[in-house]
Amino acid sequence: MPDATNPSVDVVVPHRCDLGEGPVWDEERQAICWVDILPGHIHEYRPGERVYSRLEIGQMAGAVALREDGHFMAALQHGFAFVDRENGTVVPICDPEEDDDGNRFNDGKCDPAGRFWAGTMALDERAGAGNLYMMDGALNCHLKKTGVSISNGLAWSGDQKKMYYIDSPTHSVTVFDYDPSRGDIGPGKVAFRIPEEEGTPDGMTIDREGMLWIAHWDGWQVARWHPGSGEKLLSIPLPAARITSCTFGGPDYRDLYVTSAATGLTDDELAVQPLAGSLFVVRGLHAQGEPASRFLTETPLRT
Ligand code: BGC
Ligand code: CA
Repeated sequence: MPDATNPSVDVVVPHRCDLGEGPVWDEERQAICWVDILPGHIHEYRPGERVYSRLEIGQMAGAVALREDGHFMAALQHGFAFVDRENGTVVPICDPEEDDDGNRFNDGKCDPAGRFWAGTMALDERAGAGNLYMMDGALNCHLKKTGVSISNGLAWSGDQKKMYYIDSPTHSVTVFDYDPSRGDIGPGKVAFRIPEEEGTPDGMTIDREGMLWIAHWDGWQVARWHPGSGEKLLSIPLPAARITSCTFGGPDYRDLYVTSAATGLTDDELAVQPLAGSLFVVRGLHAQGEPASRFLTETPLRT
C-alpha cells in the first residue's frame, strides 16, 4: 500500500505515444481516455476490465472532451468536431483558423458550464501565432485570447469564479476572473511563475482543495502548486522528461493519470527514458479530483 510520502507510479498500458496528451476520465465507462496528438489517435483504457482500444481519426488530435451522450467533442488539426466514440467518424463543426495551415489545436477542456475551450499553436512553435477559443452549447465559436504561443493547461476553481491558463513559453500560470453564466473572462494576470529549472508548464488539473497539478515538459515531474502563493507543494518524479498533462480518475478520483511524450527526443535520450510516451498512474496521493465536465449541447451528433 503506497503511503502519502511515497506514492506509487505505474505504467497503465504497454503503449507509447509520440505526443500523449489530454487525459480525461469517463465516469460512465470507468475509462481513461487520452490522445496522441501527432498521429491523431484517441486512446481508451478501462482499468477494471483491462480493456484497451483506440480510434484513428486521420488528422492531428489536440484534445477531446466527453459529450453528454458519451461521444467526443474534439479540437483537431482542422478545427472543432464531434467524433463518434464507436467508429471514429469525424463530424466537423467549425474551423476558426481555416486559412492558417501552420497552426493546429493543442490542449482543450470543458468549463464547469459545459462549454469547450481549446487553443492553438504554430506547428513550428512560432511565438504568438496561436489563439484561445471557446465553443458554446449552440456551437458558436468565440475567440477568447490572441497572441498565444503554445496554448496548454486549463482549469477552473471549484467556486467557478476563476479560470487558470497556461501558455507554456510564458513559464507562468495566468488567472482570469470567470463568469460561469456567460463564459466571459476578465483581462487576466500572472498567478505565479514556474522557474525554468522545473521544466516548462504544460497541461494541468485542479484538486478539491483548489491546488493545481501541473505537468512539467522536460521537467521529469508532475507537481502540485498553490495558485495563491505560487508555492510548490509536492513533486512526483516520473521516468520520462516530457510530461504533458494530468487528470484525476478512478472510482473515487484519487488516481492521477499522467501523459508523456517521446517526440523530439534523440535516440540517446530515448535509451535513458524507454517509457517516454507512456500513460502513467500515480496512486497513494492524499488528493482528490472532480469529475470532468461534459460538453452540453442540444445538437445531435449527426446533423
Ligand atoms: C505541445 C508540444 C509542445 C509542448 C511544450 C505541448 O502541449 O503539444 O508541441 O512542444 O507542449 O510545452
Ligand atoms: Ca499539452
